[in-house]
Amino acid sequence: HRLARARSLGDLRAIARRRVPRAVFDYVDGGAESEISLARARAAYRDVHFHPAVLRDVSQVELGRVLLGKQSELPVVLAPTGYTRMMHHDGEVAVARAAARAGIPYTLSTMGTTSVEDLVAAEPTGRKWFQLYLWRDRAAGEDLVKRALAAGYDTLMLTVDTPVSGARLRDLRNGLTIPPMIGPRTLADMALHPRWWANLLTTDPLSFASFGSWKGTAAELADSLFDPGAGIDDLRRLRDAWPHSLVVKGIQTVEDARMVVDAGADGVVVSNHGGRQLDRAATPLRVLPHVRAAVGDRAEVFVDGGVRSGADVAAAIALGATGVLVGRAYLYGLMAGGERGVDRALDILRTELTRTLRLLGVAEIDALPNGHATLGDPAAG
Ligand code: FNR
Repeated sequence: HRLARARSLGDLRAIARRRVPRAVFDYVDGGAESEISLARARAAYRDVHFHPAVLRDVSQVELGRVLLGKQSELPVVLAPTGYTRMMHHDGEVAVARAAARAGIPYTLSTMGTTSVEDLVAAEPTGRKWFQLYLWRDRAAGEDLVKRALAAGYDTLMLTVDTPVSGARLRDLRNGLTIPPMIGPRTLADMALHPRWWANLLTTDPLSFASFGSWKGTAAELADSLFDPGAGIDDLRRLRDAWPHSLVVKGIQTVEDARMVVDAGADGVVVSNHGGRQLDRAATPLRVLPHVRAAVGDRAEVFVDGGVRSGADVAAAIALGATGVLVGRAYLYGLMAGGERGVDRALDILRTELTRTLRLLGVAEIDALPNGHATLGDPAAG
């Protein structure tokens, strides 16, 4: 059917756009302020030049790689995204099931609409990471960490690029609230997307109420919870409290990468939150090689922002990433067709990555970081 005809993540995005209310699509698709960071993230991938090797045996291609101590079937991690049940009523559970089938880690967000325990109960087999924001209410944050540990999450990801929410102008213009509310504005939308609304109305409202009986914009909610006073000592405390892998997400300079690795991080995610926080923040793909050079083998280096194809994944790995995180790529699939849509998004990435490796003359992902890609025009020196 329709999903099978989607040949690229761009095709899935086009289906998603028709399936959900505009405010929901824009929440996923958009970025902060003038969306300069968002556009630059994509532009950087267009600046990649591959340098293929020929006459190499690529009959068998190995896409698997060890990420933070465990084998992953692809060098891809599903990024934490908030309010996933807003994109599709099956929400986090659908995404985690697709990740488990693909043999890759799924990261549950602090702002998720499924609890750490409910997710594991619904999908007990796949590898799960938990993403934490530093809350003003430290006791509540510590409680979340304990629950994630008890529920079997094997990696904790601390997001640090969010002292306050970025200004997502599309959301403000669309009047998006958490949970989505029915009002004069949404009535017309209901007529256009009856199935989405019906599903939302039959979704347990409690799944949106894990923050109390919150009603307001996502930015207001974030600002009420997140602590702009968080510092490096908070990371050190977390290091003491968490016995497994600890990753810091939202690193944007070499200096900060060194700082958090010195404080005990096992990995960093070079990320500007998919262009949703500080606009004009440096482009992660361009910062990546410098961070890799600075931390060397002391930590694993992930990158995210703008990954929309298997070729993008190959480019990031060739430029020094241990693995990539994808956010919108799977959310487009989720909005387009629920769990099957996420499956389709991951199939597309796998097919494209396999083909790219073969065309590069590389039989295994571990052999890729070997001068097979450069950023910028090589002829220009
Ligand atoms: C996010 N992101 C995010 N990050 C995080 O640490 N906690 C969160 O709750 C969220 N929520 C969230 C919601 C939505 C709708 C999006 C699109 C993104 C950022 C996310 O983890 C990741 O850094 C970006 O999505 C990467 O960029 P791409 O792959 O979406 O281009």
